[in-house]
Amino acid sequence: MTFAGKDILTTVGMKKNELIEVLGISAKMEGIVRNERVSTLLQDKVVAVLFLEPSTRTRLSFETAVKRLGAKAITVSDAKTSSGAKGETLADMAKTVEGYVDCIVVRQPTVGGAQIIADAVDIPVINGGDGAGQHPTQALLDLYTMQKERGNLEGLKVAMVGDLKFGRTVHSLTYALSPFNPKEYMFCAPDALQIQESIVNDMRAKGISCVKTASIEKALQADVLYMTRIQKERFEDLAEYEKLKGSYVLTREILFKGNKDITIMHPLPRVDEISSDVDDLPNAAYFRQAHNGVYVRMALLALVMGRA
Ligand code: CP
Repeated sequence: MTFAGKDILTTVGMKKNELIEVLGISAKMEGIVRNERVSTLLQDKVVAVLFLEPSTRTRLSFETAVKRLGAKAITVSDAKTSSGAKGETLADMAKTVEGYVDCIVVRQPTVGGAQIIADAVDIPVINGGDGAGQHPTQALLDLYTMQKERGNLEGLKVAMVGDLKFGRTVHSLTYALSPFNPKEYMFCAPDALQIQESIVNDMRAKGISCVKTASIEKALQADVLYMTRIQKERFEDLAEYEKLKGSYVLTREILFKGNKDITIMHPLPRVDEISSDVDDLPNAAYFRQAHNGVYVRMALLALVMGRA
C-alpha cells in the first residue's frame, strides 16, 4: 500500500509490510532529529491539529513533528474554543478546515468520530484518539518502542494491565502487534474493565494465545508489561470508577516477583498505577516511549502527504 493520501484511523487490518514501512521511516526521522537537522520535507504544508479532548503527548508530539518537518500547524487545543461549542457538526468543521490545510489530525470523544471527519473530506485524516475506540498513532509508537527496547517485535509475550474496556491504546496495540506472531496476549483487568470479547476472538482467529486474568503477578511474567490508566472520563457512574480506581499499582517491590527482563510501558498519562519509584529502573521505558511519538508522527505525516 502507498500511504499517500490515505487516512490513518485504526490499526485493524494494517498489514505487516505497512507496519514495517512506518517503523523504518520513523527510524530515519529519529536520525534527522538526533542530528539536530530540521527537515524541509513538508515546508509547503499546513496541518490542522484539532484536539477536542485533553492531551499532552499526542498533540504536542504532532505539533513538534510538524515543526521538525518544516510544515506549519494550526491548532484547536480546547473544544470550548471551537464552533463545536455552538453546535457545529464534526463534518461541517472538517469540510471548513479542509479548505485551510493539507492534513487533519483529530482527537475527539466519540467512537467513530474520526471516520465521520474522514468521510467528509478528501485530504488525509489521522485519528489522534476517538473516545474509547482507537488510537492508532499511539500503537505505532508503541511498536517502535518495543522494537527499540527488545530488539525484535516477533514472538513477544505481552501483558496489558488496567482499563482494557475503555483503553483505546490497548485496542489499537492488540491489532497492531498481531502480525508479529505474539507468543501470548495476557489481558489483566478487573472483570468490569476486561477487553471486549470481539477483540479476543479476532486475536484467537489469528492463532494468538489469549489469557484473561485479574492477577498482576501473572502479568509480571511477560516480556512487555503495558500498564494503562483507569479512564475516569469514560465512566457514566462515577461510583463505579471509585470502586475500580487503584485496582493495580506497580511498585518496585512487586516487580521483583516477576520477569527481571520485563519492559515496562505505559501510554501515559498515569495517575497512580505506576509508583514513581519504578521510574529510574533501566527497563522503565514509558518516558522514552512518549519521546518516540515525535519520530513516528513525523513518519506518518510524511507518508500520508506523499513525501516519504
Ligand atoms: N498517550 C496519550 O495519548 O497521551 P495524551 O492523552 O497526553 O495525548
